[in-house]
Amino acid sequence: MLKRTESCGRLRTEHIGQTVVVNGWVNSYRDHGNLVFIDLRDREGLVQLVFDPEMHPDAHKLARTVRCEWVLGARGTVRPRGDGLENPRLPTGKIEVIVQELEVLNQAKTPPFEIDTAAQVNEELRLQYRYIDLRRPSMLSRLAVRHRVTKLTRDYFDALGFWEIETPMLGKSTPEGARDYLVPSRLYKGCFYALPQSPQLFKQILMVANTDRYFQIVRCFRDEDPRADRQAEFTQIDVEMSFVQAEDVMRTNEGLIARIFKEILGVEVSLPIRQMTYQQAMDDYGIDRPDLRFEMKLKDLSDIAAACQFQVFTSAVSRGGVVKGLCAPGGERYSRSDIEKTLTQFVGDFGAKGLAWFKVASKESGSGLELKSSIAKFFTDAQQQEIIRRFGASAGDLILMVADSADVVNKSLAPLRVRLGKELGLCRPDQFEFVWVVDFPLFEWNADEKRYDSLHHPFTSPAPEDLPKLESDPAHIRSQAYDLVVNGSEIGGGSVRIHDPKVQAKVFDLLNISHKQAQERFGFFLKALEYGAPPHGGIAFGLDRLVMLLTQTDNIRDVIAFPKTQRGQCLLTDAPSDVDQKQLDELNLRVQKHLRQLEQES
Ligand code: AMO
Ligand code: AMP
Repeated sequence: MLKRTESCGRLRTEHIGQTVVVNGWVNSYRDHGNLVFIDLRDREGLVQLVFDPEMHPDAHKLARTVRCEWVLGARGTVRPRGDGLENPRLPTGKIEVIVQELEVLNQAKTPPFEIDTAAQVNEELRLQYRYIDLRRPSMLSRLAVRHRVTKLTRDYFDALGFWEIETPMLGKSTPEGARDYLVPSRLYKGCFYALPQSPQLFKQILMVANTDRYFQIVRCFRDEDPRADRQAEFTQIDVEMSFVQAEDVMRTNEGLIARIFKEILGVEVSLPIRQMTYQQAMDDYGIDRPDLRFEMKLKDLSDIAAACQFQVFTSAVSRGGVVKGLCAPGGERYSRSDIEKTLTQFVGDFGAKGLAWFKVASKESGSGLELKSSIAKFFTDAQQQEIIRRFGASAGDLILMVADSADVVNKSLAPLRVRLGKELGLCRPDQFEFVWVVDFPLFEWNADEKRYDSLHHPFTSPAPEDLPKLESDPAHIRSQAYDLVVNGSEIGGGSVRIHDPKVQAKVFDLLNISHKQAQERFGFFLKALEYGAPPHGGIAFGLDRLVMLLTQTDNIRDVIAFPKTQRGQCLLTDAPSDVDQKQLDELNLRVQKHLRQLEQES
């Protein structure tokens, strides 16, 4: 076999005159009768091979037979391309290899799609032929970034004295809030392992065990519907530290993120990363993961709304709801139908019953501003001026408002803000705005089940000054949790943990987890807390989301070598799939076949 001495994509003018062997796949071929040109591709890029019948007739003859994606070895001499034949778009565009000896290492079937145009091909087909899709330079470069991120992570934590420790994949379910993937036990019939939603309890137990500083790059499994930034099987950079407070965990871990952005993108993250309280984020952006690349803050207009004559607004406020709005700079370019159809439907998907709007215009008299829209007549001039003042609005701006419960208002205006920010060109994809969101409430009230839920997970410590409220006012306890948010994406979250078993028991109580249930589900963990648990805290970053940001894709499947579809399938291997009856028998499982058949038919 012709064994490579150089990589196709790395050949440069300094190789001119050298004899090299390259290996790779045929990206394209052009047969000009006399000369044959083949662009040969390997992981590092493309190089042009030239076959000249006058110089090397055997190689030329063989070159005429090759097809796309065949695997070749070629020995030849690097030479400059002729005048006017250079390709400035290719790093190897100044040179070519005149081939003396060609070897076909393997043939290939005609691929189901062309590599160069694969980005336009339907994703299902690309997932079925993932090995071909991954040959695309843009896909390979994402895998390369992912590799560099994990390597940087290991080096960073190692230098700080952290140990990478593995925790079990077959475990007991822990309450991260999603549905578990269950694995039936053969030896303990009727019993199940759960795949970890995160190594939360193990990493805390590692702190009790005096490992002091732990990290792990670890697969987590959550049986929830995949979304653009969510997979059922994903990877965390998981960290836990002893004898620390929230600030220590944030400082240590933002150092990692700064290192990664510097090394991979050359982006300086200014440290310490700023902090914003949960309340501030909800008030100003309607969401706990604000995109801070642009302003366009939400403003509460409930006071003006209560006093105006527009019945939609007055009745929303009198029912205990709110009216909030945003002001899109230069938003006048949205037509009435853009607003009343497209944007109204957009917020409607998040529960809003309508979208009220004003265009801000100069008064016809010439001095000052006024609001224009079919509902402007319901607002006095003073009210209009107050709305303009509150937004700091200028002529040409568009004010959009939703009246509803605070929850619906925030849930609809927050994505509208992001959409408008993108459409109006207020944010660049290569700009990164980092923020720690802090001071989350410890609990949120679950009205359906009439109990509290943890906003993060039940092992999150209350703020020390709020501890007395555990008895008196649980709804207003702040937690010691922190989320790291970049451009509206939550890339990590963690907290200082409860290390006092009495506080932990009280929290379970408020979550309506009985002593008996707590003992059954995580008695092992409560017991560990009783044997000298140090104060500790940690965090987990979503590795996939981090790589998405670094490689500027909004599709999580682009950064995972073998991802699952939105329906949780691996189209390459066709998982999940049937298993043999024998396997089921060993596990003492019976599958209701007719039910499955019905499902497949539907
Ligand atoms: P949390 O559930 O917030 O915290 O997860 C941490 C980070 O993991 C990423 N992430 C996901 N990425 C892709 N697909 C998913 N389905 C998915 N779910 C979460 C997010 C998120 O910020 N044990 C705690 C951490 C701790 O307290 O130390 C935990 O798992 O980027
Ligand atoms: P209507 O009175 O239903 O014709 O609505 C008049 C305007 O108010 C339309 O632009 C609606 O989109 C808007 N609107 C209706 N309900 C709401 C709401 N809950 N919040 C904001 N605007 C609304």
